[in-house]
Amino acid sequence: MEPAADPDYWRRRWEEGRIGFHEGRVNAELQEFWPALDLEPGSRVLVPLCGKAHDLRWLAERGHRVVGVECSERAVAEFFGEQGLVPERSRCGPFRVWDADGLRILEGDFFALEAEPEGPAFDAWWDRAAVVALPEATRGRYVERLATLLRPGARGLALVLERPDEPGQGPPFSVDADEMRTRFAPPLFTPPRELLRREGGGPPAEDGRAPRREEVVWRLERARA
Ligand SMILES: C[S@@+](CC[C@H](N)C(=O)[O-])C[C@H]1O[C@@H](n2cnc3c(N)ncnc32)[C@H](O)[C@@H]1O
Repeated sequence: MEPAADPDYWRRRWEEGRIGFHEGRVNAELQEFWPALDLEPGSRVLVPLCGKAHDLRWLAERGHRVVGVECSERAVAEFFGEQGLVPERSRCGPFRVWDADGLRILEGDFFALEAEPEGPAFDAWWDRAAVVALPEATRGRYVERLATLLRPGARGLALVLERPDEPGQGPPFSVDADEMRTRFAPPLFTPPRELLRREGGGPPAEDGRAPRREEVVWRLERARA
């Protein structure tokens, strides 16, 4: 198994402080493109593989009911600590549940998350550095799992990285436009739309080269049928 497919790899990175992916501020593309999704304030928003992203708080402040999923206890504890929130803790199946101020984080493996008995609950989702955190062999499972959690017509944004000169290297792994169009395709999704493409992103190259890299924002939608 590729290391990044294993939650223990990520837990170790958190313990060792190797979290170069953490922005420490609200993501700029989230702020720019989220309003165009035109969601009701009370919408339920899923943030898979959420880390301790400030994005969670920003989404909750928009009036959304936010649920993040994160496998590292340290990440979750640091999130609430740094945000000055005192969470209530409980348990739900394989997850530890942390709740504060309309914001919930499920601590556990995203692949263990199942739709509620009355049906998929999420109206929207935000993916920054989630699909690109996973190796190719795991990404199909990620998209399928995501689809089971989203109600028909749910809308989402994904901020992904393309690394054409570094195929297979990661995380973050390169997820190009062809792959996005193939994975987020009918019948589960409507055809995705590219909203923004710009140069840059990703960790520095170890050998000092300047490989081509592009960050791309996608608008995604769960199909209605
Ligand atoms: C590249 S980081 C991105 C974090 C966050 N989205 C951000 O923008 O800062 C990926 C995160 O996913 C978590 N993760 C990886 N695999 C996971 C899994 N199977 N279930 C839950 N969380 C996972 C890692 O611990 C890490 O915090």
